[in-house]
Amino acid sequence: MAKIIDGKKIAAEVLTGVAKEVKALKDKGITPCLAVIIVGDNPASQVYVRNKKKDCELVGIRSLEYALPTETKQDELIGLVKQLNDDKNVHGILCQSPIPKHLDEKEVINTINPEKDVDAFHPVNVGHIMIGDCRFLPCTPAGVMEMLRHEGISAEGKSCVVIGRSNIVGKPMSILLLADNGTVTICHSRTKNLAEITKKADILVSAAGMRNLVTADMIKEGAVVIDVSMNKNDDGKLCGDVDYAEVEKVAGYITPVPGGVGPMTRAMLMKNTVTAVKNQTK
Ligand code: GUN
Repeated sequence: MAKIIDGKKIAAEVLTGVAKEVKALKDKGITPCLAVIIVGDNPASQVYVRNKKKDCELVGIRSLEYALPTETKQDELIGLVKQLNDDKNVHGILCQSPIPKHLDEKEVINTINPEKDVDAFHPVNVGHIMIGDCRFLPCTPAGVMEMLRHEGISAEGKSCVVIGRSNIVGKPMSILLLADNGTVTICHSRTKNLAEITKKADILVSAAGMRNLVTADMIKEGAVVIDVSMNKNDDGKLCGDVDYAEVEKVAGYITPVPGGVGPMTRAMLMKNTVTAVKNQTK
C-alpha cells in the first residue's frame, strides 16, 4: 500500500511559515496585499477566489477582490491592472482564469507587472523559470515540488513523467523536475503508448484533467504518483486522473484528490505574495 502524501497537512505547515513572515513584515509596518480580479460568474472560479480570500485572512495578508461583470471591456480590465500595478500598497495581482471569451487573456497577463505576478504567468517570469532563476514559482508545480521535498523525494537521476502540457501546470512542472535533475518525459493527448511510458516512471505527475486515465497497470511498482487534476465523477464528487483505489496498491507514494495538490497550490500563492512583498521592499 502506498504512503499517502497529505497535502492538507503539508500546506498547513507552509501557511504557518507564511503567517510568521507576514507578522514580521507587519512589525516593520508593511502589510502584504494581494489583489484578485474575477470577471464574470463562473461558479468554479468564484469558489477559487473565495478560497484565496480565506487563505489571505488565515495568514494575515490583506486581500482585495475586484469582481467585474461578464460584459467588462478589454480596456476597462487593462485599466484596472495598470491601476493595481501603480498602487504601491498592492504587492500581488492575479486575474482568475478563465475570463470571458471576448477578452484577451494574454494581454491581461502581459500587462501585470512581473514583480507583482504571483501566478508566474508573465512571459518574463516564465523565462526566469526556464533558466532556473526564479522570482516566483508557478503555484501548482511549486506545490508538487514542496510535497516531494517534504517526503524526502528527490527527482535526481529518476525517470519523471508528466502527463499534460498546459502553460499553468504541465510545462512548468517538467522544468522544475528537470531543475531537480530528473530525466523528464512530457506526455499529452497525442502521445502514443502512454502506458508504456508511464510504466517506466519513478515519479509520475498527472495533470490531464481526465478521470480514470491512470490505471494500476500503468504504474511501476513503488512509483511516486502525483495527481494534479480536479475532475468530477458521475456522482458529482471531486476526483483526479488516477484510479486511486487500485493505484495505491502498486505505488510507493500517492496524493489523494481532494486533499492532495489542491491545498498546496493555495499555500504556494500565499508564499508567492510574501516573496513579492520582500522583492518590492528590498
Ligand atoms: N484558474 C485555474 N487555476 C488558476 C491559477 O493558478 N491562477 C489563475 N489566475 N487562474 C486559475
